[in-house]
Amino acid sequence: MAVCPDTSQEPDFRDLDVNEVERQLYLPPNTLTWLPSVDLPVGSAGPMLPDDAKAAELLERLGVDPVDRSTTLAARPDPLEHSALWWVLDRAYRALRVGMGVPPAGGGWPALPVETGSVGRHLYVWVGLAALPYVRRYHSDRDVSDEISWASLATLGEELASARRVTGLAGLEATWGMPRIFSGVSYRLGRMAFDRQRPSPESPEHPVLAVGQCGLNVHIPGSGGRLDPHACEDSLDQARAFFPQRFPEQVAAFGCHSWLMDDQLGAYLPESSNILRFQRRFTTFVDRELADWAPLEHIFHRRYEGTVVPALLLDDLPQQTALQRAIVTHLRSGRHWYNRTGWMTF
Ligand SMILES: CC(C)(COP(=O)(O)OP(=O)(O)OC[C@H]1O[C@@H](n2cnc3c(N)ncnc32)[C@H](O)[C@@H]1OP(=O)(O)O)[C@@H](O)C(=O)NCCC(=O)NCCS
Repeated sequence: MAVCPDTSQEPDFRDLDVNEVERQLYLPPNTLTWLPSVDLPVGSAGPMLPDDAKAAELLERLGVDPVDRSTTLAARPDPLEHSALWWVLDRAYRALRVGMGVPPAGGGWPALPVETGSVGRHLYVWVGLAALPYVRRYHSDRDVSDEISWASLATLGEELASARRVTGLAGLEATWGMPRIFSGVSYRLGRMAFDRQRPSPESPEHPVLAVGQCGLNVHIPGSGGRLDPHACEDSLDQARAFFPQRFPEQVAAFGCHSWLMDDQLGAYLPESSNILRFQRRFTTFVDRELADWAPLEHIFHRRYEGTVVPALLLDDLPQQTALQRAIVTHLRSGRHWYNRTGWMTF
């Protein structure tokens, strides 16, 4: 059953504006610039959160661990008690509804600071729960199977578990995936996940995309075991069949932006390495963005965002596998890891 909040008393979240919300949530100015501009559908209801029993059932379907389910249920937002957070929830929910099926411009949703407490850290989970009926309907209208629909949405469970592992805190961090998954833009198809990019009108100098064409971002979730080449091929084939049947744009290339695209890995890993075999599917490489944080986070579940990783942190990391040794040896020698974008034709 959905719970309709009683918003008849003061303070009313609708009286707030973005500056006041950012002030109350300890956010730097302009963190929420994506929210005030959302078109609010006239006459439409605001977010309706499922009651605890329904929310628990849905969270389980969304692959959320029992521990994260309980912390989410204990962090239910309330429009009166948490008016600034409710303002964000209301706008993010409407952004998903208005943008259903449209690749979002810009990045993901910013982390809400720890000062916003458990309710703040779980707010996006509740946004997802409120938007769930709409994205499910969108999937069904696009003839997306139940299996693919739930597998895609279950990325929420992985994001929660991963954020907890890295930070020691329950709840979500900044999330690139949530606005894409819960607006029907990103899909898990076998080993990998894919999200549609906007067509590229403005950049005729794009390395592979002509004006009006677009790319599919390829993501390699930590879940799903090794990066077996057959599983990758199957996943790419699924994407080749899935997207053109359902979406209007002309997809011309797969693009993967990741630390796994850093060709320096080739100096450390054997030729038989799945990562290298995956990397070598891509033919054109662009960008080079400092990203020591990425292997630290994805392989060691440790967070460090400075420019020189301290020796004490490196000393603390396990060295059991070729990849673990590669990451640490490289950093110890004063070199860095980079995110790169690889492209290959669709
Ligand atoms: C991508 C991934 C599935 C590849 O695993 P894989 O198929 O085993 O990769 P490779 O065959 O290239 O492995 C080469 C070596 O690295 C090791 N290795 C690979 N992934 C590892 C991981 N997550 N942790 C520790 N060691 C790992 C392998 O065990 C192997 O070493 P070994 O021969 O000493 O046993 C895995 O690294 C992973 O899950 N990474 C996290 C997800 C990620 O980073 N996604 C990209 C986000 S931008």
